[in-house]
Amino acid sequence: MMILDAQNLTRTYALENREITILNDVSLSVFPGEFLVIQGNSGSGKTTLLTLLSGLDRPTSGRIFIRNREITHLSEDEMAPFRNRTFGFVFQSFHLVPALNALENVMFPAELSGNRHAREKAEALLGRVGLTARRHHFPHQLSGGEKQRAAICRALVNEPDILFADEPTGNLDTENSGAILSLLLDLRKERGATLILVTHSAEIAAMADRRLVLRDGEIADGTTP
Ligand SMILES: Nc1ncnc2c1ncn2[C@@H]1O[C@H](COP(=O)(O)OP(=O)(O)O)[C@@H](O)[C@H]1O
Ligand SMILES: [Mg+2]
Repeated sequence: MMILDAQNLTRTYALENREITILNDVSLSVFPGEFLVIQGNSGSGKTTLLTLLSGLDRPTSGRIFIRNREITHLSEDEMAPFRNRTFGFVFQSFHLVPALNALENVMFPAELSGNRHAREKAEALLGRVGLTARRHHFPHQLSGGEKQRAAICRALVNEPDILFADEPTGNLDTENSGAILSLLLDLRKERGATLILVTHSAEIAAMADRRLVLRDGEIADGTTP
């Protein structure tokens, strides 16, 4: 069974009195435990595709199934808890909550899903990325690499089945990129998690099971597993 199956996804926006097509008839299937990399030029629709696949945005047309369960038409009230349990997200720009320290940021999704071990889990993850000494620091007191490591811990705290990451190492140095990548690969090895990553890094792309290339909102290469 596929863990993710997207059929004929199209996303359009109304711009003034025109309709612009951002994604056009994109279909893809992902195996459980697969490491899929999405590549493509800036503006080709990579972020849009990730937000659709992860239920953060809805396609204009097309259907999305997660393990045979259709999520396309879930209401936000149904989608939010499903997302929190099933998906982890890492965005390019961290999205940490400024008023929460690193530890509280990481604990947050676990607390939301009622996990009584949220603190222990968060502490353990922060330890793995070398942030124990910084766990009580707020986002503005952390470097870019530290914020991104905290954001990855937050994405992993609920042990997601699918981790989506949008250029997770985009602004980071080699050392931080390496730390983040190895954490993602550990998650996959230890838990069989599926990784769906947008990246410009040829090095990361080379480690993926499959590379999919978007061009002007269409899949130019890589549909077939
Ligand atoms: N909310 C929106 N309204 C209108 N256009 C958008 C919106 N979001 C993205 N776009 C446009 O869609 C195209 C693809 O964007 P995006 O998915 O962010 O590409 P990528 O992540 O590959 O750089 C871009 O031309 C962008 O300007
Ligand atoms: Mg993008």
